[in-house]
Amino acid sequence: MPNKKLSIRIDGALVDAYEGQTILQAARAGGKYIPTLCDLEGITPVGGCRICMVEVEGIDRVMAACTSPVQEGMSVKTTTPRLTQHRRLTVELLLVERNHTCAVCVSNGHCELQTMATNLGVSTVRLAYNFPKLETDLSHPKYVLDHNRCILCTRCVRVCSELEGAHVWNLTSRGINTRLVADLNGKWGDSKGCTSCGKCVQACPTGALADKGRAVEEMVKQNDRISALAMRRGAEA
Ligand code: FES
Repeated sequence: MPNKKLSIRIDGALVDAYEGQTILQAARAGGKYIPTLCDLEGITPVGGCRICMVEVEGIDRVMAACTSPVQEGMSVKTTTPRLTQHRRLTVELLLVERNHTCAVCVSNGHCELQTMATNLGVSTVRLAYNFPKLETDLSHPKYVLDHNRCILCTRCVRVCSELEGAHVWNLTSRGINTRLVADLNGKWGDSKGCTSCGKCVQACPTGALADKGRAVEEMVKQNDRISALAMRRGAEA
């Protein structure tokens, strides 16, 4: 039986929603755009990047649209000066945390972080760059992991776990020291669990995971295929 139909407002317009949906799902179904980075349709949302924050009438704090459930009669705002400020600062924090040197990145021109920055008008940052010294893992025969470009969105972790069932990726440590790791912090190329399916690479929004041998601007991700695969599996289940 389909879930109970609810009626919510998004930016003033009435939108049909269903019990159990998130604000982001209802918005997308109603043709409304909410910017996201860590979300990928078909895998479990985690509310990690905080780009999708929205305002809900009657609630002071902003809420993550990707993890907040819809409720009958709620009124959501997706674009306000406060939200734009918040999203800009979030992108700036991501840009200064690691070394996103777009000019020499395989994903230059096809990077979701870069596109988000452009869309939000972030052409300079107001914060000091961290310039951390980070490694690149070249041990896998087909793929590369460049920690300099990683925004810790965990799309790769979730895709590997939920779609491939391989559970190769995870995060280790905390805060600014958080790192994406293969298995128990080994080299990716040594992983016995990795099936070399490449789903993590396609799911990655930046140049952090890429095919080996790609030159600057050459790595174009096809994460819509990941979402389509997830949807098909869901329909078959
Ligand atoms: Fe909602 Fe990242 S898309 S927190």
